[in-house]
Amino acid sequence: MMSGNSRLTGKTILITGATAGIGLAAASELARLGARVIGVGRSAERARAAQDYILAAAPSARVDFLLCDLASQAQVRALAEQALSACGGHLDVLINNAAAVPDRFTLTEDGIELQFAVNHLAPFLLTNLLLPALRAAGQGRVLTVSSSSHWHGRIRWKDVNLRFLYNPLLAYKQSKAANILFTAELNRRFGAEGIRAFAVHPGLVNTEIGSKRARGLTAWFWELRRRGGISPEEGAATLVQLAAAENPDPAVGIYWYRGAPAWADPYTLQAEPARRLWELSAQLTGLA
Ligand SMILES: NC(=O)c1ccc[n+]([C@@H]2O[C@H](COP(=O)([O-])OP(=O)(O)OC[C@H]3O[C@@H](n4cnc5c(N)ncnc54)[C@H](OP(=O)(O)O)[C@@H]3O)[C@@H](O)[C@H]2O)c1
Repeated sequence: MMSGNSRLTGKTILITGATAGIGLAAASELARLGARVIGVGRSAERARAAQDYILAAAPSARVDFLLCDLASQAQVRALAEQALSACGGHLDVLINNAAAVPDRFTLTEDGIELQFAVNHLAPFLLTNLLLPALRAAGQGRVLTVSSSSHWHGRIRWKDVNLRFLYNPLLAYKQSKAANILFTAELNRRFGAEGIRAFAVHPGLVNTEIGSKRARGLTAWFWELRRRGGISPEEGAATLVQLAAAENPDPAVGIYWYRGAPAWADPYTLQAEPARRLWELSAQLTGLA
């Protein structure tokens, strides 16, 4: 454990999904270690509760919250503008942590399947819009929370919305594979400019992710499964480690688990699907 006067003192970190689970645990620990934390939540009430929770553990912490429903691209764009102003154009670490796991097919206002929108396109758009601030930090770091569920996940090029064969687990696997493809492509495109990107599997963590938007058997199954999971604090440890590390090198490995590089599905490390996903994502988010 690092002391309060750690390498994080003076660093600014933005983290999505900071109102619950792994995101709240990471935000709390990063703030305790001296970082200035900008949390993102979609409910003012939960954001206030998260801020109170963090300040109760570390009264001198510097923590603010911005509101955004990451399912809406218009809101992600507004979030990026607010974040650029809040961080003064200098962002050391962006943590794309938020994810949604609904148990049924849901389309966003932009016509995108909810998991692809929240779990992949929102990180893609937000990261791209915050790139100037990450570049200004010198060694801007982008951490995206993936999952071991990415194994055997494939991008369904002809139907990314999985409209014709919807299965929540397939949609989750696709979005978590997209997290690693995106991470690898970020390093390819911007590594020379100092941007460093990593994807993290937090382990099986005891949170409400699989039950808060699900009902019946699906919710029951997750409630049972999560009891065998580690605590959100343990799940957040690798994120905190990578945020605080002095000079982590993506060449050593871009997919991390339990504090070290881990094996990722070779598909997610291939250049061609990563390039293709980048282009598709740019098209779906209207990014030039
Ligand atoms: N738990 C596990 O076992 C596990 C395993 C592997 C990977 N992961 C990954 O770990 C990350 C965090 O998951 P978790 O288990 O901590 O889940 P969680 O407790 O459900 O937290 C998810 C966070 O994302 C936010 N969120 C969801 N949809 C959103 C939206 N549309 N707009 C803005 N924020 C939204 C939630 O906000 P609300 O508070 O408003 O719901 C919450 O703050 C995810 O990327 C997940 O895929 C988790």
